[in-house]
Amino acid sequence: MKRIAVLTSGGDCSGMNAAVRAVVRAGLASQVDIIGIYKGFQGLIDRLYENMTTKSVSNVLQRGGTFLQSARCLEMKTKAGLQLATANLKGMGVEGLIVIGGDGSLKGGYAIHQQGVPVIGIPASIDNDIPYTDMSLGVDTALNNIVSAVDNLKDTASSHDRAFVVETMGRGCGYLAVVATIASGAEYSLIPEEDYNLEVICEDLRRRYREGRSNSIILVAEGAGKAQDIADQIKDKIGFETRVIVLGHYQRGGSPTVFDRLLGARFGEAAIENMLKGNHGKMVGLKSAEIQLTNLEKVVKTKSRPIDPMLPLLANRLSV
Ligand code: F6P
Repeated sequence: MKRIAVLTSGGDCSGMNAAVRAVVRAGLASQVDIIGIYKGFQGLIDRLYENMTTKSVSNVLQRGGTFLQSARCLEMKTKAGLQLATANLKGMGVEGLIVIGGDGSLKGGYAIHQQGVPVIGIPASIDNDIPYTDMSLGVDTALNNIVSAVDNLKDTASSHDRAFVVETMGRGCGYLAVVATIASGAEYSLIPEEDYNLEVICEDLRRRYREGRSNSIILVAEGAGKAQDIADQIKDKIGFETRVIVLGHYQRGGSPTVFDRLLGARFGEAAIENMLKGNHGKMVGLKSAEIQLTNLEKVVKTKSRPIDPMLPLLANRLSV
């Protein structure tokens, strides 16, 4: 393969730039031309693209969003749009396409793959709803944004004996709300995957108020309802004065965390390696976040954990 294209599609997220950078630098290191497509599948249809150099991806690693820009492209869902996108790829001499995005974008990638252009997908969506990967790109940064917002809200809430109902993103998935609840020490998360009983929640919040707690935080995943509606239903029943905040797109931006930078680098390089090995029609993913027990004896008798030798190699390869 001599020419591979890369695009970012759907909702942007932090870590996409790290993945594009890795695709470009790992590709160039393997003597492959890398074409950056702007504005996702829309740019493929409109032929908005550029040859990527090492310099094209310098100084992007620390930036949120995607420098290639993104779009939600309805035209790609039509037969004519798909055929035009595929024809344009072939016209550019592209022999493989790397699609960085969420479920809809991966579906678009698969449709192109079925048209005979090898495709590899990289899961990127703050919702963390993409199967066959423990984490998608952008999730960790979004979680850090939510937790930092809740930390701030707790300061002001506890100065006034207030409850905050905080709405998080996630579309139909409650992952962000649940994990942020664990990490921020919020009282409740209302998520689409589980039924909740507001009467029971109000009773518990009233108990907290009577105990003299200074604040309460309820996270509402957007798929579970509107924060304002929940606040309207509970405000006169919990003791705490109630305020609402919708975190919205604030969650999606910001400099990527180390986790997202590293994941982007690993996913990007793996996409190139596998594309060149002929393992296409696939999505790269991260597996094995399970908790496991190991005998203490074994732990103390084993040498210090070595770092994965892939990490320094990857660091060197990408910092050209
Ligand atoms: O899929 C990512 C996501 O941020 C969802 O959590 C949210 O529902 C949606 O995108 C918002 O989409 P848009 O940026 O098009 O408003």
